[in-house]
Amino acid sequence: MTDRGGQLYITTPTVESDVLSRPRGFRVFLKLENLQPPGSFKIRGISHLCQKAVKEKGCTHLYCASGGNAGLATAYVAQRLNLKCTVVLPESTPPFVADKLKEMGATVLIHGKVWDEANEHAQKLAQNPDAQFVPPFDHPVIWEGHGSMIKEAAEQMPSRPDVIVTCVGGGGLLNGVVIGMKSVGWQDVPIIAMETVGADCFNKSVVAGQIITLPGITSVAVCLGAKAVNEHTFRLYRDKTANIISVAVPDKEAVKACLRFADDHRFIVEPACGATLSCIYSDVIPQLQSEGRLGKVNSALVIVCGGAGVSLDLLYKWKKQFDL
Ligand SMILES: Cc1ncc(COP(=O)(O)O)c(C=O)c1O
Repeated sequence: MTDRGGQLYITTPTVESDVLSRPRGFRVFLKLENLQPPGSFKIRGISHLCQKAVKEKGCTHLYCASGGNAGLATAYVAQRLNLKCTVVLPESTPPFVADKLKEMGATVLIHGKVWDEANEHAQKLAQNPDAQFVPPFDHPVIWEGHGSMIKEAAEQMPSRPDVIVTCVGGGGLLNGVVIGMKSVGWQDVPIIAMETVGADCFNKSVVAGQIITLPGITSVAVCLGAKAVNEHTFRLYRDKTANIISVAVPDKEAVKACLRFADDHRFIVEPACGATLSCIYSDVIPQLQSEGRLGKVNSALVIVCGGAGVSLDLLYKWKKQFDL
């Protein structure tokens, strides 16, 4: 394994996509977080939190309750830093998720019927001085770690973008993007925050003017499936600390974007990332401009957040499901 001076995430490329730029009349830059070793941007914030815990309190054991990209990132960090890792999953988790985590050296405990019960159990187990609980998104140190992607992009792009496109699950990614933007002086660049209908807790909150808790998640973009966005994200929007434009698209658009991106760039990504890409493929930008909600765009920075929860079989299944 290459030594990155203790850094557990990689500096990902920001590439200008000719195939996406040409038909749209503006330059599209892709921040390729799908290339991170555990498959998504999550490693940035989670490694930051865990390395800080090791340094400051000699932590030796990581606990988390995610069968998704946060769990994979936590297991990866534990493996690289020689720490113990326990992932608590609810009974409903498919066995292949547990197998993948075990392969990475994590101990998997099955507890509770739903995620909230598993999460509570992981928090309880982590109540000892040498343990660190790793939440999937709700921690300022995680946000700070995610911010590094924007600092990199600022060095990699020829000039600042006119808009940044990303997606929202629990809001950790968006919070990190905003922190990174502030650190490079991009705080007034508008951000388009994409979600899918059925995992649209932020969009629903924006419309209602207060945090809304979804009764359940019905979207195939499961890793956008937080029932409520974290308060900090909502406040960033409400207090206009950042210029955030919230957009929710149907699952079909997110899956269509995954399929087109596979053809255009030969990468397969989760529908969460498809939601972000659908902003470009479904012409959300000209639509927002025609509504007067977005100004002139000469270049867009798109956060390709990635995700390991995708395969050719799943893409085929969704293609059929949505009649694409
Ligand atoms: C691939 C991917 N993209 C986006 C998100 C959303 O991130 P957040 O929950 O920090 O908003 C997640 C969350 O798990 C993810 O795994």
